[in-house]
Amino acid sequence: MNCPASQQQPDRRRFVTGLIRWAAALSGMALIHPLLKFTGYTIKPKPRHVKITAPLPRSGVHAEREFFLFAETDRSKAWAISRTCTHLGCRVNFLEDKQLIECPCHQSRFTPQGKRLAGPAKKNLAVFPVEVQKDASGVVIGYVVTL
Ligand code: FES
Repeated sequence: MNCPASQQQPDRRRFVTGLIRWAAALSGMALIHPLLKFTGYTIKPKPRHVKITAPLPRSGVHAEREFFLFAETDRSKAWAISRTCTHLGCRVNFLEDKQLIECPCHQSRFTPQGKRLAGPAKKNLAVFPVEVQKDASGVVIGYVVTL
């Protein structure tokens, strides 16, 4: 003999159990993000490579949106400096006549090597690695900046 009330009991129990599991899973997922943020865990983005073909301008400075690429006069040594100010994140400019990097927001100043000279910024500008590419005869053909 089948009793309709006893048949509904397992279905209702399974539904409530499933609901509790889903609620527990969602609560756990909601807590993971602030917990990881609190512990300082961050996922680093993949490095990006930006290729600049030689020759650079006579000044030895090439400006991109995210960095300045500087090269010595023989172009064999190069370095890239971030254009993001370490104070509040404005985009810095290179003053060629003064050989300085200056932030237009609060006038922090940096050397072309990214070292802080003056202003409210407390840290140096970030330096990105640069690979100098040469052809078989040793002539510089380009630069690869890793961001
Ligand atoms: S944001 Fe550059 S000095 Fe303030």
